[in-house]
Amino acid sequence: MGQICVVGAGHVGLVTGACFADLGNQVTCLDINSEKIERLQKGILPIYEPGLEELVRRNLQAGRLSFTTDYCQAVEPSDFVFIAVDTPSGTHGETEMRFIRSAAEMVGRYVGDGTIIVNKSTVPIGTGDLVAQIIQRVNGHEPFAVVSNPEFLREGSAVSDFMHPDRIVLGSSNREAANAVARLHSAFECPIIVTDLRTAEMIKYASNAFLATRISFINEIAAICDELGADIKVVARGMGLDKRIGPAYLDAGLGYGGSCFPKDVQALSHMAAAHGRRPQLLRAVMDINRDQRRLIVHRLRQLFGSLEGRQIGLLGLSFKPNTDDMREAASLEVTALLIQEGAKIRAYDPEAIEVARPLMRDVTMCSDPYQVAQGADALIIVTEWNEFKQLNLLKVKSLLNYPDLIDGRNIFEPQAMQDLGFVYYGIGRGQKPLAPIAEAVSESVHVKANMASKGPSTKARPPQIPPGGSLGEDRA
Ligand SMILES: NC(=O)c1ccc[n+]([C@@H]2O[C@H](COP(=O)([O-])OP(=O)(O)OC[C@H]3O[C@@H](n4cnc5c(N)ncnc54)[C@H](O)[C@@H]3O)[C@@H](O)[C@H]2O)c1
Repeated sequence: MGQICVVGAGHVGLVTGACFADLGNQVTCLDINSEKIERLQKGILPIYEPGLEELVRRNLQAGRLSFTTDYCQAVEPSDFVFIAVDTPSGTHGETEMRFIRSAAEMVGRYVGDGTIIVNKSTVPIGTGDLVAQIIQRVNGHEPFAVVSNPEFLREGSAVSDFMHPDRIVLGSSNREAANAVARLHSAFECPIIVTDLRTAEMIKYASNAFLATRISFINEIAAICDELGADIKVVARGMGLDKRIGPAYLDAGLGYGGSCFPKDVQALSHMAAAHGRRPQLLRAVMDINRDQRRLIVHRLRQLFGSLEGRQIGLLGLSFKPNTDDMREAASLEVTALLIQEGAKIRAYDPEAIEVARPLMRDVTMCSDPYQVAQGADALIIVTEWNEFKQLNLLKVKSLLNYPDLIDGRNIFEPQAMQDLGFVYYGIGRGQKPLAPIAEAVSESVHVKANMASKGPSTKARPPQIPPGGSLGEDRA
């Protein structure tokens, strides 16, 4: 057991602090955001993360977990200082280092000899050495032991991921320090890789870049599936059963988002370019991901022609289910593009509405999915919350102005949705995209005009994708 200080009480820092406290350590979480700390002291969490609130409250009550903004109080008595501050993207794709630098400066003022600095933030290769230099410069004592301990938890299952890791990675030039950090993790039954600082830092970037690559890969295959009439869900399953491939991160959809993959792929690409390399694969991964979000808007244009005045409903706003994190969420770009084209947006998310509200001022937030569907010309599933898999689809269809459903996460089956009377679009489900945009515009305007002349019975619009056929063929 040790005395631990965690600098940065965000998604990673809070989970790290609460979990280490639960394992019996004495933990102080420190943050520069005093409002956040005051609320945490009362057991009120700044984020939604399953199981975390209970963990924090339990360890607060047991006196193993405390929160402060006072560096001296938190750092001075600690055996280990974990740095878990944010490392966002700068304007050119580089990593913004000011939070790490200022955390290192402040730690340097109060850290005692023998304290081990553990870096959990995802940081450019070489940052471990930089942190050691900053601390030593400020402190003026002996060189400090810095250990890189990248974090691999996923938001939405962060507590479970922290408590049941696949591996622990520790990088340091000081073997004793790395071993001491390894002992902190002795409750976990998983391999521990002990290596040098730079290799540990690179393991984190390479892991995230590889996972992002899998997502962009499957999205590229999905686009080809749509052209050639194959179903990406079955393709991915068929691939994933191969032990060399495995099933994870092969879900076609609107692409990756969140606080990690976008910035980490970009940062790795930036690091490579800054050192004279051309990271072609990483660039393609980012391009495909960007295009994936625009696909939805393109499909809506093909359905309606102009989006001016169209009512579009969004289900799901957070970047993935089980979190209220809106960082780099697909919903942000989709919303911006739709609004730019004159659409009116109504949206619902089970957890992220309050976080999303200030980021999406022109969006009408609804209290449930049915309110979103009411009078909408099309519904888009942006985030695959379980709640949406259980919808009363007949009710949804009866509320929609037109039965258009674009499933950006492939949570439904095309045939079943068509049987229910939806004009359904998944991603890569073998539905050839519509005819070239110019033809599609005149055709769709024509369809809508005909329907408009029939008055309120427009809801009875026949499905535009015939069973076994494609929307493109239907309209050609
Ligand atoms: N979120 C994830 O799923 C995840 C997973 C693995 C790794 N990471 C990495 O972990 C790091 C932290 O990410 P996060 O999502 O927890 O960020 P976050 O934005 O949720 O939290 C960061 C916290 O650090 C605080 N902070 C900033 N500067 C500080 C300073 N000088 N002193 C004290 N506190 C300070 C902020 O106020 C904030 O509360 C990043 O490098 C990220 O890439 C994140």
